[in-house]
Amino acid sequence: MATQVFLPLWFFSMITYFLSTKATIDNYIIHMDLLAMPKAFSSHHNWYKATLSLAMKNDHNTPLPSNKLIYSYKNVMNGFSASLTPQEHELIKASPGYISSILDAQVKLHTTHTPKFLGLNPSFGAWPNSQYGKDVIIGLVDTGVWPESESFKDNGGFTNVPSRWKGQCENSIHFNSSNCNKKLIGAKFFNKGLIAKNPKIKKISINSTRDIEGHGTHTASTAAGSRVYNASYFGYATGTATGTAPMARLAMYKALWEEGAVSSDIIAAIDSAIEDGVDVLSLSFGFDRTPLYTDPVAIATFAAVEKGIFVTTSSGNDGPFLGTLHNGTPWVITVAASTVDREFHGTLTLGNAVEITGLSLYPGPDVISHTSIVYDMAFCNDTNELHKVKDKIVVCEENGLVSLDDQFFNVENSKVFGAVFITNSSDILFFLQSSFPTLFVNPMNGKIIKDYIKVGGKGSKASMSFKETIYGTKPNPSVDSYSSRGPSYSCPHVLKPDIAAPGTLILAAWPYATPVAQLGSKNLLSNFNLLTGTSMACPHVAGIAALLKGAYPQWDHSAIRLAICSTSDILDNTMKHIKDLGNGKKATPLALGAGHVNPNKALDPGLVYNLEVQDYVNLLCAMKMTQKEIKAITRRSSYNCPKNPKLDLNYPSFIAYYNGKKPSSNNESKTLVHEFHRTVTNVGEGHAIYVASVTPIKGFHVSVVPEKLVFKMKNEKQSYKLRIEGPKLMKKQIDFGYLSWTDLKHVVRSPIVVTSLPST
Ligand SMILES: *[C@@H]1O[C@H](CO)[C@@H](O)[C@H](O)[C@H]1NC(C)=O
Ligand SMILES: *[C@@H]1O[C@H](CO)[C@@H](O)[C@H](O)[C@H]1NC(C)=O
Ligand SMILES: *[C@@H]1O[C@H](CO)[C@@H](O)[C@H](O)[C@H]1NC(C)=O
Ligand SMILES: *[C@@H]1O[C@H](CO)[C@@H](O)[C@H](O)[C@H]1NC(C)=O
Ligand SMILES: *[C@@H]1O[C@H](CO)[C@@H](O)[C@H](O)[C@H]1NC(C)=O
Ligand SMILES: *[C@@H]1O[C@H](CO)[C@@H](O)[C@H](O)[C@H]1NC(C)=O
Repeated sequence: MATQVFLPLWFFSMITYFLSTKATIDNYIIHMDLLAMPKAFSSHHNWYKATLSLAMKNDHNTPLPSNKLIYSYKNVMNGFSASLTPQEHELIKASPGYISSILDAQVKLHTTHTPKFLGLNPSFGAWPNSQYGKDVIIGLVDTGVWPESESFKDNGGFTNVPSRWKGQCENSIHFNSSNCNKKLIGAKFFNKGLIAKNPKIKKISINSTRDIEGHGTHTASTAAGSRVYNASYFGYATGTATGTAPMARLAMYKALWEEGAVSSDIIAAIDSAIEDGVDVLSLSFGFDRTPLYTDPVAIATFAAVEKGIFVTTSSGNDGPFLGTLHNGTPWVITVAASTVDREFHGTLTLGNAVEITGLSLYPGPDVISHTSIVYDMAFCNDTNELHKVKDKIVVCEENGLVSLDDQFFNVENSKVFGAVFITNSSDILFFLQSSFPTLFVNPMNGKIIKDYIKVGGKGSKASMSFKETIYGTKPNPSVDSYSSRGPSYSCPHVLKPDIAAPGTLILAAWPYATPVAQLGSKNLLSNFNLLTGTSMACPHVAGIAALLKGAYPQWDHSAIRLAICSTSDILDNTMKHIKDLGNGKKATPLALGAGHVNPNKALDPGLVYNLEVQDYVNLLCAMKMTQKEIKAITRRSSYNCPKNPKLDLNYPSFIAYYNGKKPSSNNESKTLVHEFHRTVTNVGEGHAIYVASVTPIKGFHVSVVPEKLVFKMKNEKQSYKLRIEGPKLMKKQIDFGYLSWTDLKHVVRSPIVVTSLPST
């Protein structure tokens, strides 16, 4: 499992440390069948305790060791988590009512401008229509929150906390109820599972909801931070910072710790959020390749979705490789990460007054005056040579022989005055926040610098300046290369990711006590930080969902989710199809999802797709899961499989697999047909006629029946069928097109993917 942000290296060494401490005792998450609970038990909790006592061959009258039963879950599943020896686990398996168990998974831990970039505006659209998400409650499971941040202040028209709210601020040494207010209305922490799994952790450094890692403070303020004037990252990205839904309320459930994180705590956190009454749940983490019935996020969010909670998750940071996506769960929205039309620059002014622009987030003083500039070690891989030019600006060039990482590391360690790296790599985010004056320039500008030095020789001079923020850069948005790509491992029949949202270099709140950068060897502090990852994309969609909930309290979460998808944008700010930075080509829906999120258009989708809980169950049946596996997700026996369940979910996207064998004989059919059935509801005003159009896919025949949908009134439903005919085994790996339903006012678009990738 991984939170979806780039984390410092110490974090990973910590995780390795945990993974290497093998213990025979481990945490298990046990599913139980409530129908098997003897009537004598007054509560589930007591039954679970008794089951555990028996497994430990414990006399009922002696209390259980306190660390045995970790949590008994109420909402997300019928069952509990416990710390067990293999023998005890075997005995539990033989207990009445036992369904299945999963090993507690260890977690490998994966704005001023974005509201404007998303088109949010105080005078029209989603902000005023929803009163900025007023009274919608967003819960996050994350690393905690820094309550003193200005982003969590409640000045500016917050009314009393809605009476339906059952949550609270848990007291502990570093956090108490006085840290909460009308904006931050809940704060709880969960680490019993982590401690049971890693007995070596005697003490949790900050045993409270207080965030010292920063991730949770950042995601919470991205979703619903209050307005903060003059926010910036050391003079970069300066402006008024605001969350996506600035009037929504926030509740933090801390289950990701500096010491590690495990699924039993995460399930407990989601359990608690459901109990407390959150409307939207934002989860910026996920688990590597696991079936739905063992994926703690999939299991816990099924219960949330049943209660009408909107769940947003991040797709992961393992791109640009296909099939790396996390949270490919049909009942949640899975968010990919895109770039924003903003760049951070510095300028190199050569002795001949020519100015060269490069990328930089160097936090230090903003001018370095007239200094010698040299280009004679090219690859910057000779540290002895680098030490000789300490007082100069060094120019290095990436050449495919010595990696940018190595060059950067050598230069950083030799403490030169400043450096310019010539590179055409798009993967330089890691280096931008440098501790020494640095610029990254493209090969074209690099040539100008090299030519100047060639002519000027030893007398070549240059100055550097920093802290320039440029808006409107093109082309944007693009899907960034780190964003994980579909298809979904756990459910390849539903096209994932669903949507893309801003994830690269997002400015949001930060714990003031946690350093954000270094200047030389000095740590720098800031109330705001720029982070990158699908973790940052996910809370944008949580905020947008809060705006839609605020505007349409009567819409169910599936209508909101699917409206966000079918109204998204597929063109960038050059009016071309959004690109994939992983390969420089058009982004396919396996990178982009339906498109880039557009909150104002989502407010007026025209048509929506609805899904009932039973629809997901039918899909699980069609995936040929066993009763046990289905029950691990649904908990209830009241769901039944229909006679002929279909893999076809009423979703605004289509994925069809053409990965079969080539026909062997002439009379065998050469083509394969996939059919999809969909039902849409007219949520526009009154009478409407929608006409279908399909962008062609070479080698495929795609048709829609009927081609026209006539609605006489609001809330009327109509159905259609999409048929795709193509070669049994297609040549390309992926191709795609779009189905668009249009009336005079709306475009309701769905991506269509055909692929030869494996479907299992
Ligand atoms: C953390 O605090 C809670 C109560 O605030 C306490 O019950 C628990 O034992 C503490 N855990 C650790 C590891 O200190
Ligand atoms: C909460 O913490 C603050 C600051 O540490 C302290 O002043 C206050 O008395 C505490 N309140 C409660 C109810 O414990
Ligand atoms: C804005 O913030 C910067 C740095 O944090 C500070 O130097 C500057 O004075 C502030 N400007 C205003 C108008 O508050
Ligand atoms: C630096 O890299 C170049 C190219 O790989 C190589 O020829 C040279 O020997 C390296 N120099 C040192 C000191 O490692
Ligand atoms: C980057 O430069 C190298 C060498 O000049 C070239 O082979 C490569 O195609 C370039 N890549 C891009 C994305 O421009
Ligand atoms: C296809 O042709 C072969 C021989 O030409 C024949 O044996 C077979 O029955 C045919 N199959 C179908 C489905 O017509």
